[in-house]
This record gives sequence, C-alpha cells and structure tokens, in this order.
Amino acid sequence: MENKLIDEARQGDALVVTGTQKPGSRKMYIESYGCAMNFSDSEIVASVLTDKGFVTTSDYKEADLILINTCAIRDNAEQKVRNRLKEYNIEKRKKPSLMIGVMGCMAERLKEKFLEEEKIVDIVVGPDSYRSLPSLIETVEGGQKAVNVLLSRDETYADINPVRLGGNGISAFISITRGCDNMCSFCVVPFTRGRERSRDPESIVSEARLLFDQGYREVTLLGQNVDSYQWTGGGLKKDNPSPDVLAQATTFAQLLEKVALVNPLLRIRFSTSHPKDMNDEVLYTMARYENICDYIHLPVQSGNTRLLEMMNRGYTREWYMERINAIRRIIPHCGISTDIITGFCSETDEEHKDTISLMEWAQYDFSYMFAYSERPKTLAERKYKDDVPEETKKQRLYEVVALQQKLSGARTKLGLGKVHRVLVEGISKKSDEMLSGRNSQNTVVVFPKGEFKKGDYVNVLAERCTVATLIGSVV
Ligand code: SAH
Ligand code: SF4
Ligand code: F3S
Repeated sequence: MENKLIDEARQGDALVVTGTQKPGSRKMYIESYGCAMNFSDSEIVASVLTDKGFVTTSDYKEADLILINTCAIRDNAEQKVRNRLKEYNIEKRKKPSLMIGVMGCMAERLKEKFLEEEKIVDIVVGPDSYRSLPSLIETVEGGQKAVNVLLSRDETYADINPVRLGGNGISAFISITRGCDNMCSFCVVPFTRGRERSRDPESIVSEARLLFDQGYREVTLLGQNVDSYQWTGGGLKKDNPSPDVLAQATTFAQLLEKVALVNPLLRIRFSTSHPKDMNDEVLYTMARYENICDYIHLPVQSGNTRLLEMMNRGYTREWYMERINAIRRIIPHCGISTDIITGFCSETDEEHKDTISLMEWAQYDFSYMFAYSERPKTLAERKYKDDVPEETKKQRLYEVVALQQKLSGARTKLGLGKVHRVLVEGISKKSDEMLSGRNSQNTVVVFPKGEFKKGDYVNVLAERCTVATLIGSVV
C-alpha cells in the first residue's frame, strides 16, 4: 500500500485536463502519466491542437479524440496505460469515429508495435513529434493508422506557448532541456526521449515573464539533468566544441539568475539536479536570490559505490556526501529530497544497508522510492542479471519507506516555532476555512484564511504539524 502511494505520487498520477467549451468544435481529452516533463508536454500538445480548432474536455466519454501521454520508466507505469486503454475501448465500440492516440515515452519505446499490441490505438506519437499531430489526425480521418516516433536533435518547442492545463494558476512548469545523454544503466529515458538538448534562454525568460504577467508566482524549470543545461546557440552540445563558443555559453547557474531577475515575486524551483554535475556556482546563485527556493532534488539511487558504478551514475558515495555537505554549507536551511532504487542487480543486504545509512546521514526531507524494474534495451538489461528476488526488492523498499517516514516527520518538526514565508496556492484540502501553500523548502503550510487569497505571500508562524504539513497562523 505504502509502496503504491509513493510510486503513484510521482510517476503514476493521472492528470486530467479541465474543460473549456465552444459549441461545434471537436473535443480532445488528454490524460497524462509519468514525470513533470510529460505533464508539461501535454500542455504543448494542447496548444498545437487548440490552434487546429480542438477544445479540451474533462470527460473522455464526450471526446472526439482521446490522447494518453504515457510513461515507460517501470513496468507498472506501462501496465496502468494498458488498463486505461481497455476502458477507452468500451467508448470506441459505442462511437467508432472516436480517435485514440498514444503519446510520450511508451509510444516511443514500442513504436509501430503499439498498433499490433493494442488494436484500438489509431495514433502513436513520440515526444519530439508533437508538431505533426494535426497531420497524423488527418491521416486517421482518411482511414489509416498514423505513426511518428522520430526523435530530434534540436526540437525544444521553444516557440510554442503552452496551454496551461489543470493547474492552480499560481505554479507552472517550464521545460529547459529535453532528452538525456547520461545512460544510467537502469534507465529507459535516453531511449524514449533521445539526445539531450537545451532550449534558448531568451524563450525561457519570456515564458516566465508572460506567466508572471498572467498572475503566476512560481515556475519550475524542468530537465532530466538541469545542471547540464548549456545554450551555445542551438543544437547538441557536442556539435559546438570550440572554446570560443563555450566561453559564451549560458550555463544553468546563469539561466537561474536570468529567470530570478524576471521579478522578485516570482519563485523559481527546478528539477532534476544530478549529483555528478551539480556545482557550487548553482548553489551560490541560489543563495544570492531569495526568490530561488531553498530546495534541491538530488537523486542518489543507492548509497553503495559498487552499485552506483554498475548503475553508471558517475559518482561515488563519498562524492555524493560531499555534494550534500556543500548544499548544507552554502544554503544552511535547504530542503533536500532524493530518489532511491531498491534491489538493483546483485545488490546484497550489506549494500542495501549502505543506502539506509546514507539516508540517515543525509536526513532527507522527502524521498521517491522504487523497487528496481528491468527495462528492455537498457544497459542493465543487456549486461546484468535481474537477480534480486521480487520479495527482497519489496522488503527493502518497505524498509526505506518506513525510514523516510521517520525522517520526514523529524524534518517537518524542525519547522515548528519558526516563521515561514508561504506562497498561497489555494484552499486547503482538509478545510474551506484554511489556505494552503508551501514554504521555500517545499513543505506544505496550512493556516486560517483571513483576507488572503491565492498568489499572496504570507508569513506564517508554525504551531503544530503532521508528518508532512506545518499548521500555524499569520504573523
Ligand atoms: N533524470 C532523473 C530521473 C528520471 S526517472 C535523474 O537522473 O534523477 C525518475 C526516477 O525513477 C529515477 O531517479 C529512479 O529512481 C527511478 N527509476 C528509473 N528507472 C527505474 C527502473 N528501471 N526501476 C526502478 N526505478 C527506476
Ligand atoms: Fe535516466 Fe540517468 Fe538520464 Fe536520469 S540522468 S533520465 S536516471 S539516464
Ligand atoms: Fe516516464 Fe518518460 Fe518521464 S519514461 S518518467 S514520462 S521521461
């Protein structure tokens, strides 16, 4: 149960768009699974199709086009998609003109095979091919199935202004890189999202500015490894090797600064940082700007150096600990979270204990924890045996989950008796009389509503807490 909750919290939750109606237009229903990058991509797709006259609906039963944005990170993520397609099939039998499209990472992984495996699918479209959706739809209307899974070396959708879906009107995602060049041995992402490329910083800054003008007060900059962001004027990093070009490149730290300067009332968050690339320049930039939130998601995966080597992560346990020390030194009250995989190939009990001891040492505020799931084509699938029994993987997962529960509780308690600057995100889920928001460290803070509204910044004295929430009053 716990496992399920944690797993779904990050990479399984479906997000359904809310509807806007215009009589006579065709209706699209978009459902997203997987990481923030996928959710952000759905907003690009909504923009491409809105331009073609589609309107969004929150009820798939009234849609003319159902799009499901899929994740391939673990086997259970793919299982969820297949189950959902079964439900859509019932609608399709009632309404044969209904078009069903599969987008995202599972589409890219399976390509044409998707059409054979799931007969009800009409469109298969990969993460770099969303501009072609209108023509794919035309192909389907002409009576054929349509596939475009070409990966690109330069597509960043920089010029597309996303249609914000299902959000709170306060926080939005901005993609800054696409793809990943890291080849961690367990990971399918390099195969589903292709080569890493960075997006023009000017387009990122203008998107942030536009969001601020529309009332947004927080942006999260997204990439699989934000620290390797590097804009040299376009194309792949490795296509621009000359030292002159590199000297003029925009780094991630410089990009952070540019976005922070948009407005002091715009909060900046980012994800994901990679331990091998996260440098002190980024930390000093964070420390310099109050509106860059004191929060870093720094996935460790394992606390054991032999395992880290097999995972091809590019750092050791000691290197990782040094990075945590640097964070604590430069940003003393920083919130830190991580990702952990239990039961990776050949992991022993002793090696698992190294993960436990590292968690205790790091005192994480939060962790996303997963049992290892072997993925086709990855380095680990080709080189190593998936030899830790499922039972053991699960047992180790329960252990890290229980420990994190304890650590999170202790971290939240540290916030008691202190005043927190909270960006109000809306009414609290538990009570209409309370507002809810987050502090800089990403902890949820709840307090009586008073005259405040979402988008306001409020100073709250924390008086009580649950495991993950601070409760207090405005001072
Ligand atoms: N780019 C990010 C991670 C993206 S995937 C990074 O490098 O941290 C999100 C998380 O899913 C990973 O950090 C990892 O913990 C988990 N994950 C990835 N592949 C997995 C697999 N095959 N089995 C179990 N968990 C996996
Ligand atoms: Fe996957 Fe590693 Fe890239 Fe993250 S950095 S997306 S884990 S290959
Ligand atoms: Fe899943 Fe693709 Fe994201 S595999 S985690 S949706 S990059």
